[in-house]
Amino acid sequence: MLTEYEALLRRVSVRSFEKRVLEPHIVEELRSLTDEINSQSGLDFRLIHTGDASKAAVKLSGAMFSGSVSTCALLIGGADEISAEMVGYFGQKLVLRAVALGLGTCWVAGTFDRKSVDVELTEDRRLWSVIPLGYATAKVPLKQRTIRAAIRGKDRKLEQFIEFDHPLSTLPRWIASGVEAVKMGPSAVNQQPVNIVYKDGLVTARIWRENANILKYNDLGIAKYQFQVAAEAAGVRGFWNFGDGGEFIVDG
Ligand SMILES: Cc1cc2nc3c(=O)[nH]c(=O)nc-3n(C[C@H](O)[C@H](O)[C@H](O)COP(=O)(O)O)c2cc1C
Repeated sequence: MLTEYEALLRRVSVRSFEKRVLEPHIVEELRSLTDEINSQSGLDFRLIHTGDASKAAVKLSGAMFSGSVSTCALLIGGADEISAEMVGYFGQKLVLRAVALGLGTCWVAGTFDRKSVDVELTEDRRLWSVIPLGYATAKVPLKQRTIRAAIRGKDRKLEQFIEFDHPLSTLPRWIASGVEAVKMGPSAVNQQPVNIVYKDGLVTARIWRENANILKYNDLGIAKYQFQVAAEAAGVRGFWNFGDGGEFIVDG
């Protein structure tokens, strides 16, 4: 199994899947992680596993995806901004574990058929995204390569992800590594709305792109998780305070 940081470096959105049922030990691992996340966070992540390659766990849009998956995660949580951020943070933890286990994944908030997932939601709960969990095809079809190149081609430059009043060469290595991981992370329609701010010795994360799309709070949580994994791989453990502008607290 890859380390979490290796999985972070390797992850890309996979939109082309083999029709193959996941191995039981992988399903078990994903199930126990989902349970752990739910009890730690109060979120309501659910794993759908049909156990049958010809029965899709979710109907993904044929315009974006090819093949199908018989396993997926439903990321369910409260409808408010902090819940959205927590869904991002813990959803990315699930994604990186899936990648470490050799799976292909993608955050899918929009391009799936909501009627294809059987889920009862109370008014204060929202199905934020589904995460297909499957084996990526060995060869990525041209269509899916074109989709990814078109979206990621609009990436911002690395220095646009960090707000720091001094030469970038003086940025501590663990922070530089964290910022790089934020850039590499997924975001809704690749908006990359989150910056890391390093000021007066404090590291915070903020949404710089002001648009009405509440999915930017998913992106905030994803960015924080990416940063944390990379910082830890560079030798600095810590955790985030939730919220836009929340601070990264170094352990010890
Ligand atoms: C919250 C969120 C929602 C997303 N929704 C969709 C979606 O509905 N359909 C899709 O094909 N990709 C979706 N994506 C994937 C992004 O398009 C993708 O992460 C981004 O383009 C960066 O590419 P990469 O993940 O390959 O690095 C979503 C990503 C995030 C973070």
